[in-house]
Amino acid sequence: MNIVITGASKGIGKAIAKIFASNGHNLFLCSRNEVALYKTMEELQTQFAAIEIKAKAFDLSKQAKDFGKWINSLGVTVDVLVNNAGLFEPGSVYNEPEGVLENQIETNLYSAYHLTRTLLPGMMENPSTSSGRHIFNICSIASLQAYKNGGAYSISKFAMDGFSKNLREEMKEYGIKVTAVYPGAVLTDAWGNFDNSKNRIMEADDVAQMIYAASQLSTGACVEEIVLRPQLGDL
Ligand SMILES: NC(=O)c1ccc[n+]([C@@H]2O[C@H](COP(=O)([O-])OP(=O)(O)OC[C@H]3O[C@@H](n4cnc5c(N)ncnc54)[C@H](OP(=O)(O)O)[C@@H]3O)[C@@H](O)[C@H]2O)c1
Repeated sequence: MNIVITGASKGIGKAIAKIFASNGHNLFLCSRNEVALYKTMEELQTQFAAIEIKAKAFDLSKQAKDFGKWINSLGVTVDVLVNNAGLFEPGSVYNEPEGVLENQIETNLYSAYHLTRTLLPGMMENPSTSSGRHIFNICSIASLQAYKNGGAYSISKFAMDGFSKNLREEMKEYGIKVTAVYPGAVLTDAWGNFDNSKNRIMEADDVAQMIYAASQLSTGACVEEIVLRPQLGDL
């Protein structure tokens, strides 16, 4: 299968790339920083020599359609799309800087919306693979409930949830599965130097494993939502 993953240079996106690679699937990856992206591509290619990996840097807050057109120009059939790229800018509605909402919506929602729209015609045309075509949208527990310091990030993730739910309804009859993923805290660069020696928060691989498992069901079954929280609950 051909797997498109955004924000794949590190964190949750990289863990998702690795689990699909280790199961023999081809990867088409994107993030902004070209050096970090190519480093990840090389690392995975060395580990999993038999698969095809292609990567290209785009700022998906502005260039999501360009990334989609690049994928389409490669002539590959997209089996799985993972809309993972995102940015966490903490803040509160009443005092976060001007422009944060716009940036969060562009990065966390428009990236997924425009990329999906660019790839969907091809995905809708081609006959399904054994487990069906599949789109995963990485939302957040911040899509499900408000919390202090959520601000524009949480608003953008609620919007991502709305996008995902609408897409699920629309794609049922086309045999394309849509899964919304709602992780709680996951140890990635987004958490800076957080001390996780006591496993207070989750690993990126936990999210990747759930996504891979959901991609393996029969064509008649769709996991609509994956909610993951740290064992001790939210921070
Ligand atoms: N970590 C958590 O606790 C947590 C919890 C719930 C949900 N999430 C969600 O999970 C997703 C991944 O988060 P993460 O924690 O793995 O973050 P991360 O480690 O910071 O990785 C984010 C990835 O997205 C890329 N990216 C960011 N902005 C981009 C843009 N404008 N265009 C293209 N690529 C972009 C980054 O690369 P560049 O910087 O080079 O572009 C990187 O590859 C996000 O949507 C996040 O909101 C995370």
